[in-house]
Amino acid sequence: MTNRILDHPVLGKIDGEPKISFRFNHQILTARSGETLAAALLANGIRRLREHEESGAPRGIYCNIGHCYECRLTVDGKTGVRACLTLVKEGMIAESIEKLPTPLKNRGIYHE
Ligand code: FES
Repeated sequence: MTNRILDHPVLGKIDGEPKISFRFNHQILTARSGETLAAALLANGIRRLREHEESGAPRGIYCNIGHCYECRLTVDGKTGVRACLTLVKEGMIAESIEKLPTPLKNRGIYHE
């Protein structure tokens, strides 16, 4: 079962694109060549990408154009990569960010 639009009335069919595999949080998933990581995760039914730095609330795709930074993941060992701007690649390893250091807390600006 896929959540992809395989035959779009304007963009056409994507069914012929080569399939590639990648990992997200230790799951092996399938993507289409040319998809962003965010689109591939959404197509695999994954909406929770990370947790909020302070509250731990689930975060996912919000703007899908690189502005909000809600889709940050660790990708191939690099933390803070925006899934909506990153093309998925064969063998890519993506992981959720559970908690980031909070610079505001360390400077006394943020108070609980
Ligand atoms: S969803 Fe907003 S930056 Fe990726």
